[in-house]
Amino acid sequence: MQSEFCADSIKKYLPEGFDRLIFFEETDSTNEFCKREALNSGTFVIAASQSGGKGRSGRKFESKEGGIFPSLFLRPNIPSERLMCITGMAAVAALGALEDAAGVKCAIKWTNYIILNGKKLGGILTELCFDGGAPAVIIGIGINANNRGADFAWDSENKACSLFTELGHKTDLSALTASLVKHFDRLAADLEAGNIASYIEEYRRNCQTIGREVTLLWREGKSEFSQLGEHTQGFASDIDDTFGLIIQYPDGKSEILRSGEVSVRGQTGYIN
Ligand code: BTN
Repeated sequence: MQSEFCADSIKKYLPEGFDRLIFFEETDSTNEFCKREALNSGTFVIAASQSGGKGRSGRKFESKEGGIFPSLFLRPNIPSERLMCITGMAAVAALGALEDAAGVKCAIKWTNYIILNGKKLGGILTELCFDGGAPAVIIGIGINANNRGADFAWDSENKACSLFTELGHKTDLSALTASLVKHFDRLAADLEAGNIASYIEEYRRNCQTIGREVTLLWREGKSEFSQLGEHTQGFASDIDDTFGLIIQYPDGKSEILRSGEVSVRGQTGYIN
């Protein structure tokens, strides 16, 4: 187990000469740093803690030491419809990294949550920046790794957990971060090349939302339940080829949710 989590400790697990990594003991948000700075495509910004970590829909993402908080900055040369695939691809990449470095098999809750033992282990926040040229993409991921329960008690809504609470031992943060770097580098290459099909298959295999009754919490930028339209509950039958969630409604209608959040009905009611 490494004693210190820093740029050098992460680079030990990466190919010699890897120099696309910026490390902070603390920053406000690695996604925000990526937006502020003129970074080269392919740069990873990593923090040991964040004072203003963000989740989707303007939520906070508590980012205490013990977790890992990397963001990848990209300027991919891809057709715009492919941008919709990035969060789903990142979820698959994260599952691979967690399995390789921590030996755990996680699941995905559509769209962007990483789940371990039915609880939220982490999440992905993908942001797009239109600053004149080709759109920039920032893929941020936060994983509760060596954090104790008190670090994420704020997220009781999602029944949060950490690798430590579930495995009962500490994980090497450097090895886990480096594993994410490798899997996200592969994602970036596959995104450019249009190799999405294997990610869709893997997402389907691991998405705990598929095949479940769901309640829609919000969708496509709308946060008020009353703005959801005529349907609020349905059956999540599959994801389509851009990671949209296919919902069948009780009246026979169906639709594909591109973005939003659902709660999943488990045997004991709606679990998260
Ligand atoms: C979510 O749970 O809705 C997504 C959480 C994403 C958190 C990561 S941590 C690294 C990056 N920087 C941020 O401020 N957010 C993302």
